[in-house]
Amino acid sequence: MGVDLQLSEPLIPSSNKKGPAKPFVKWAGGKGQLVEDLAAHLPEKYSAYHEPFVGGGALFFRLAPATAFLSDLNEELINAYLVVKNDCDALIRSLRKHKNERAYYYEMRSLDPDTLDPVERASRFIYLNKTCYNGLYRVNRQGKFNVPYGRYKNPVYADEAQLRLASKVLANADIRVADFEIVLEQAKPGDFVYFDPPYQPISATANFTSYTRDAFDESQQRRLAAVFRELDRRRCYLMLSNSDSPLVRELYSQFRIATVMAKRCINCKGERRGAIPEALVLNY
Ligand SMILES: C[S@@+](CC[C@H](N)C(=O)[O-])C[C@H]1O[C@@H](n2cnc3c(N)ncnc32)[C@H](O)[C@@H]1O
Repeated sequence: MGVDLQLSEPLIPSSNKKGPAKPFVKWAGGKGQLVEDLAAHLPEKYSAYHEPFVGGGALFFRLAPATAFLSDLNEELINAYLVVKNDCDALIRSLRKHKNERAYYYEMRSLDPDTLDPVERASRFIYLNKTCYNGLYRVNRQGKFNVPYGRYKNPVYADEAQLRLASKVLANADIRVADFEIVLEQAKPGDFVYFDPPYQPISATANFTSYTRDAFDESQQRRLAAVFRELDRRRCYLMLSNSDSPLVRELYSQFRIATVMAKRCINCKGERRGAIPEALVLNY
């Protein structure tokens, strides 16, 4: 896009300085390993930061932007973000009470999160995330978290220093449970949007798409591409991660597509681990 912006707010030079905090949950598709590659592709300047599939928020924490809009469809996750932001001390007190024991894990897992107050609910979620098998968030058709116990020796579920840093970085963020289209209501010209949707499967068997009850299928990928085009017309700076698949190449053929090498380890069998190319779609 030609960058010729009429802005009400000044653009802020994007910083490559590392932010102090890190994601407080492990998340499938988490961008921990890729984050430096992503940071190398940022626009030079932008105003607000938007991440409408925030997940673990690896890029957000890496950048620690002054103005941020974060959202995700996963209610448990977003409740945890809000509690880390607004009620960090109470959360830490609650997290300290958990036990890394099999029976206790299944007891916590069986609780209905809707019956818990926000702090207890976030505490359960973070505890399960750090002690479950592979740190994978997966729900069944009823929307119930169903990952088995992970048998880690010393999982750190009450990392006070990290949680306090995360709380500081989140202090000015607007955080919501929402479908990604919310970005159409929030993003202004000159803002930066990073999209990290559930990936389009490269093969019929590579179909990990269940962070939420509803799968992210081809029609959702098309709906997302339409949002991308609309924000491009609005002169936002856009970056989108996805698999390097024929559908992604087709949907974003009018934009620049860089490839980055990603190490995959969640939902991969040992022999299929290793670096695979991923698409990074950019409109600048
Ligand atoms: C690949 S993950 C994001 C990973 C994240 N960038 C990180 O570093 O951890 C995709 C996220 O999209 C969310 N999601 C799925 N469908 C969605 C929708 N329609 N709108 C918003 N978020 C959605 C999932 O809950 C999941 O957290």
